[in-house]
Amino acid sequence: MQYRLVVLPGDGIGREVTSAALTVLKKIESLFYFSTEVEEADIGGAAIDRFGHPLPQRTVEICQASDAVLLGAVGGPKWDSLPGDLRPEAGLLGLRKTLQVFANLRPIRVFPELMDASPLKREVVEGSHFIIVRELTGGLYFGEPKERRQTANGLEVVDTLHYTEDEIERIVRVAFDLATKRRGHLTSVDKANVLESSRVWREVVQRVALDYPQVQVHHQLVDSAAMMMVQKPTFFDVVVTENLFGDILSDEAAVITGSLGMLPSASLSSRGPGLYEPVHGSAPDIAGQNRANPLATLLSLSMLLEHSFSQHEAASVLEKSVLSVISQGYRTADLAGRHHQALSTTEMTERVLAALEDQVGCQTMKSAQ
Ligand code: NAD
Ligand code: IPM
Ligand code: MN
Repeated sequence: MQYRLVVLPGDGIGREVTSAALTVLKKIESLFYFSTEVEEADIGGAAIDRFGHPLPQRTVEICQASDAVLLGAVGGPKWDSLPGDLRPEAGLLGLRKTLQVFANLRPIRVFPELMDASPLKREVVEGSHFIIVRELTGGLYFGEPKERRQTANGLEVVDTLHYTEDEIERIVRVAFDLATKRRGHLTSVDKANVLESSRVWREVVQRVALDYPQVQVHHQLVDSAAMMMVQKPTFFDVVVTENLFGDILSDEAAVITGSLGMLPSASLSSRGPGLYEPVHGSAPDIAGQNRANPLATLLSLSMLLEHSFSQHEAASVLEKSVLSVISQGYRTADLAGRHHQALSTTEMTERVLAALEDQVGCQTMKSAQ
């Protein structure tokens, strides 16, 4: 089996965490007997510096021709004063739109060993395990018009929250399908007491629910969902919501796990390559210092192996290896409490490589018995 992977390191710690992922991928290939043709390309600030644009045409073309795309992160203070459509983030949004990756899956899991790294009490977070299904190619992020207008009375500005019924229905179906494979509980998050778009969202969820009688549905207003997420995170199983609400709620959910450095994501389309990225950003405060936690990116790589390469065994072994380094007590600085020595990005990656060998060794021994 030969797969085509495009790696877009982007900016800041994006470069460090994707480099960790490539090292781990090489090891996985040798352990699981498949090979990947890897191409790197520029996006975000790095692309602006080299080509004057955050999403060069070559990047778009090779991503479209690939089986999967792994992205680090984009952005940083250097490019913050550029106009909106030339900022690094515009490159990422353009890529999501071009690849039509409308379904963004952000699984939130509490690792028992990390519970003390969470700012929430152990008894609150214990047993939390849910997934945010965020609509990724519509809503306020992409609606037109989106502009500033100079009027006689000063500046006027507009962002547009636009959805078609079809766009809502396809993401809602992804969430219902997931719920049937999990605990059968779906929370649809909206702001139906104020927004017309949310009222239509709710109607669509109610209509689609008729096809899934085995799924229990809750409609939750976004403000109270934000509160519930830190008050009783164990309530949630599958959460489905529009683009901006999903962006905000997923960073909030990260605190439950202890660090943004642990949250992976997969963005899927109906056909074509998936886009895999850690939920965190380019972390300018620690960039270039070999301090970033690579585990969110390694868990994103595991999602890539699962969804785009159908290498289920490799995906599961990688996930187990990440769990095992955590349970062995290895921590990067974002997670290290007083009792742990903080490992660098490369040291943590070494620990995952060793855990992969151990996991595969154990499996070989089991199957020989
Ligand atoms: P951020 O996620 O980059 O950082 C928030 C905090 O979390 C920082 O203190 C950072 O050091 C820490 N952190 C994040 N990831 C970490 C990791 N892997 N290991 C250890 N610590 C980690 O968010 P921000 O500071 O609001 O944004 C910085 C830049 O990143 C902005 O330009 C923003 O637009 C961009 N951004 C990009 C993406 C993306 O590319 N997908 C996502 C979010 C933010
Ligand atoms: C994320 C990020 C992006 C978003 C930014 C960088 C455009 O915050 O992936 O969560 O808002 O979607
Ligand atoms: Mn975000």
